[in-house]
Amino acid sequence: MKRYNTQASRQLFENAQKSLVEGVSSPSRGPANFGEYPIFLTRGQGPYVEDVDGNRYIDLMMAYGALLLGHSHPAIAGALREAADTGTLFAAASPIEVDVAQAIRQRVPFVDRVRFANTGTEATMAALRLARGLTGRRRFIKFEGHYHGWYDDFLVSAHPHPYSDLGLPSDPVAIPESSGIPTEALQHAILVPWNDLERLEDALKRHRGEVACVITEPVMANMGVIAPNPGYLLGLQALCQQYDCLFVLDETVTGFRLSMGGAAIRYGLNPDLVTYGKGLGAGLPVAALAGKAECMDGLRWGGVLHYGTQNASHLGMLVARANLGALTPDVYQHLELVGDQIERGINDLLSQHHRVGHVQRVGGMFQIFFGAEQPIADYRDFCRLADRPQFQQFAWSLLRHGVYLSPSYALHSVLSAAHQPSDITAVLEIVDEVLKQEQGE
Ligand SMILES: Cc1ncc(COP(=O)(O)O)c(C=O)c1O
Repeated sequence: MKRYNTQASRQLFENAQKSLVEGVSSPSRGPANFGEYPIFLTRGQGPYVEDVDGNRYIDLMMAYGALLLGHSHPAIAGALREAADTGTLFAAASPIEVDVAQAIRQRVPFVDRVRFANTGTEATMAALRLARGLTGRRRFIKFEGHYHGWYDDFLVSAHPHPYSDLGLPSDPVAIPESSGIPTEALQHAILVPWNDLERLEDALKRHRGEVACVITEPVMANMGVIAPNPGYLLGLQALCQQYDCLFVLDETVTGFRLSMGGAAIRYGLNPDLVTYGKGLGAGLPVAALAGKAECMDGLRWGGVLHYGTQNASHLGMLVARANLGALTPDVYQHLELVGDQIERGINDLLSQHHRVGHVQRVGGMFQIFFGAEQPIADYRDFCRLADRPQFQQFAWSLLRHGVYLSPSYALHSVLSAAHQPSDITAVLEIVDEVLKQEQGE
């Protein structure tokens, strides 16, 4: 099996560190995940990326899930050309944003209104402010292991930690994820283990009248991939109604990915507010907060403030419109097909090579959990059972042989409409070789 020469990346990294913090623009791209040096990419086409050394990889990261259609899709390229000819930003009302808002409403019937933003972090931050503004309450329920962006109040217990540090499930320890956050900000979140309706109800009872909203990822996408237990999200929604707080669904990762209308439609949900990000902008910074009129209209002038020079840029809206137009039902069937192929293929290879581990997948999102035979159902299982160093070594080996994926155990791999069954077969051949090498076979 050919081992890639990545000397140009190594050299570039030395130089990059002189002008960029850790040589990169986000810590997940640097040594914390990539070890000695990251691979510097120069091109993307369909399901492939190319690096500065001229190596071609099958991309299983797809910009952390932003590229549902693959790289350089013709519809997206067309929209980009249109923006080049007609203007990128007006910071004024424009007809295309109405088209995109209507396209979202068609796909997600409970959405009455949409407000565009630029990143998932901005959208969830606006959701929390809106929930606080509408209810007059400051606290909110957040689940252990859920990531909602890098805003102060959300940055507790969002990354994997040693199991012994987590405290009791009935009284989780709030572990801050960054220095520089005022202690008060970290006291707003009421932490609850996910996939457990009893504990959620306990927390809602204990904090009755204090909780502005419950915010949840519909599928945990920042602890590998963890699906909701059957009926869990509907139960959560009913508890929000019963205890009179808002239900905020963070679809930054899952929006327009897990079905035409995202996870909300896949799981039959009817949240008060929903946030979108990655899958909306096809690689451009486009995000949205959306939901029921009685909530969203709280953003009217004089109410809850949400600004943004770049909101609904002409460039972003042209691309989002083209993206939603190209995300037809066959894309979702395709994602299930290639998702199933990779899940079965990797599970078979793990057992052929006598490795303990399994794949967890929802649609085109999947992660391999080494060291764990049984399903990982929540953050605590993840911290206790998943062998993170083993995964990282494996991911680095795949990178050296032509599969580009995130070596972060906490994230997951992503398939797109551009990945063909033959690409999956090629990935499985490389996985087979890497497992053989690791077993010394
Ligand atoms: C569930 C979830 N919410 C919010 C965010 C923040 O989105 P962004 O990186 O666009 O700020 C992320 C990012 O990965 C996410 O996974």
